Amino acid sequence: MILVFGSLNMDLALSVERLPKPGETVLGPSYVLTPGGKGANQAVAAARAGAETRMIGTVGDDEFGRMALNALQRQGVDTSGIIKGAKPTGCAAILVSPQAENQIGVASGANLETLAASVPNDRLGPGTTLLMQMEVPENEIWALARHAKSRGARVVLNLAPVRPVPPASLKDLDVLICNEHEAASLATSLGAPPGRDPTQVIGALAKGLGLTFIVTLGARGAMAATPTERWLVDALQIKPVDTTGAGDAFCGAFTAALDRRTPIQGALERANVAGALACMALGAQEALPRRQTIEERLLSSPRAFKSA
Ligand code: RIB
Repeated sequence: MILVFGSLNMDLALSVERLPKPGETVLGPSYVLTPGGKGANQAVAAARAGAETRMIGTVGDDEFGRMALNALQRQGVDTSGIIKGAKPTGCAAILVSPQAENQIGVASGANLETLAASVPNDRLGPGTTLLMQMEVPENEIWALARHAKSRGARVVLNLAPVRPVPPASLKDLDVLICNEHEAASLATSLGAPPGRDPTQVIGALAKGLGLTFIVTLGARGAMAATPTERWLVDALQIKPVDTTGAGDAFCGAFTAALDRRTPIQGALERANVAGALACMALGAQEALPRRQTIEERLLSSPRAFKSA
């Protein structure tokens, strides 16, 4: 079972002719109002990838909150652990360029009221994979990681958006998922010389920290390092529409595969496919693929290979 502890937002995603510079206004033809938030996106991604999924988080007592909850329920995510806070539901403004790049600003709202103490002990045990991101209060994340680890759960953290990680909390993680920028920031904060290629340091970090370290590389694919081995997978050749939520698709599909005991190589391949397919429509949750689609596409997709 996957337990997602994280954010729920409503996303206002605008297609614009190009991403603006500071102080500039840019025009575009259309927008969509869709459910988002890294936590909710990853919960939907995990559920569509075939995992039994529950979510703990906070929405406001408002229409956005009801829309965010409905979206999860429609995908079979158990939302009984999502509470209504005093603040309004989180909201993200997203600009998407014709090249599918984005700029995102998030008003956290009710996500700031999310507490580790809301997670009942009977949801945390050896059969649980806890999946977290960095859009709810950091102290609650580190406290829950410690508690979940002590109860025998597997702890997966997506370090997005990147923030400093207390060194002691790294020991509570089983899997850490970053993009290149997040990995570089983490590596620097842990003492690696700035500017060093993060793909070169992740093997050392995985070994030093005793965890599985995944780095997504955008159009170059993804890599995984365990304390003893390293895997690389090339990206799928696609023409992306919107890359918003690609990382969330990757995390959800990877965690769903891990949860059903797929080895790292297979989990990396499936996550790589899910991340690419998620880029094929405007909106973070719109194109999150189902397990059958991932498995079918995997047959014609790059396979992971071991690297030194
Ligand atoms: O990862 C994409 C998500 O980041 C969006 O859905 C937005 O809500 C922000 O949280």
